[in-house]
Amino acid sequence: MMRALLCRQAGGPETLTVARLPIPEPGPGEVRVRVTAAGLNFFDTLLIRGKYQKKADFPFSPCAEFAGIVDKIGPGLARFQPGQRVMGWIGWGAAREYVVIDPGQILPLPDGVREDAAAGLAVTYGTAFHAFLTRGRIQPGESVAVLGAAGGAGQAAIEVAKLLGARVIACASSAEKLAQAKLLGADEGVNYAETDLKQALKALTGGQGVDLVYDPVGGDLAEPALRATAWGGRYLVVGFASGDIPKIPANLVLVKGSSLVGVHWSEHATRLPGLLADELRQLLDFVAQGRLKPQIHGKFALEAAAQAFGVIENRQAQGKVLLIP
Ligand SMILES: NC(=O)c1ccc[n+]([C@@H]2O[C@H](COP(=O)([O-])OP(=O)(O)OC[C@H]3O[C@@H](n4cnc5c(N)ncnc54)[C@H](OP(=O)(O)O)[C@@H]3O)[C@@H](O)[C@H]2O)c1
Repeated sequence: MMRALLCRQAGGPETLTVARLPIPEPGPGEVRVRVTAAGLNFFDTLLIRGKYQKKADFPFSPCAEFAGIVDKIGPGLARFQPGQRVMGWIGWGAAREYVVIDPGQILPLPDGVREDAAAGLAVTYGTAFHAFLTRGRIQPGESVAVLGAAGGAGQAAIEVAKLLGARVIACASSAEKLAQAKLLGADEGVNYAETDLKQALKALTGGQGVDLVYDPVGGDLAEPALRATAWGGRYLVVGFASGDIPKIPANLVLVKGSSLVGVHWSEHATRLPGLLADELRQLLDFVAQGRLKPQIHGKFALEAAAQAFGVIENRQAQGKVLLIP
């Protein structure tokens, strides 16, 4: 038997329970992985309440990403060996001791990449890589404002944008969060709880405005950030952690010759799995080389899942929140 965190009906984290379930058997062409760490993301807080854009059938386990050790290979598969360290991504279901998965959704971990670092890599770093390269067509030397800069998505965006040669302006709600963002490589910081975001971004770019905005927060920050974009700027719509989906005046996009660009990593993952695997391989290599340093906010047992969710819901996460089955 194995332990699994279960969401049995729509509700808050206090309704999650740890259950004992039979260890699943891999079918033909499948792999069973013993999960050593699972990454929690903001969207898990919506998924368990039935408020995410995708709906999981009950009961299900949260967590879309994980790292672990290959435990058993199904009939007819030669690509993986028991004992191999891997990371993987699924829509949900990783907060449990064992997952059975399609081998196209796992990658071997290079030497030197820790499982806890890899467990939280796919969603946030994968999104930043896809957003900046494919959606935002970032160029070296361009300026990027990252909102929610100390959260999971924001931290990954800072590191990836720096890696791609951008100048990064971290934007967050406290001095402590901005200090953390600068440790990750941000060139400047704007505290949007105290300062006018548009004016601050304009001032830091000599009045020109920023070339890209990476926005996982939405709400009241969106319009001032869009107003602070340069001619030809790209506004990357990543998420709405504030809980409020902004309504953007379309004239702003017209007068700036700018683009509002949607970023949807999980759909990208589904539609172009080969490209996604290549992107994640590159990210793993960057981690192995020490050029990306995924931060871990904290590790929680399955029994402490409500506490782990609370870190995200109370706006405290500074790096990845991991569940350790
Ligand atoms: N489009 C995609 O493919 C994709 C992929 C990954 C994530 N996302 C989305 O990106 C968003 C952020 O995810 P995340 O994992 O970075 O979350 P996170 O670690 O919890 O960070 C979210 C940040 O948003 C800010 N925030 C403002 N109001 C908030 C509120 N009411 N509750 C919580 N945070 C609030 C906080 O920064 P300050 O306190 O500094 O404002 C916080 O650090 C989510 O909406 C998620 O679904 C989208």
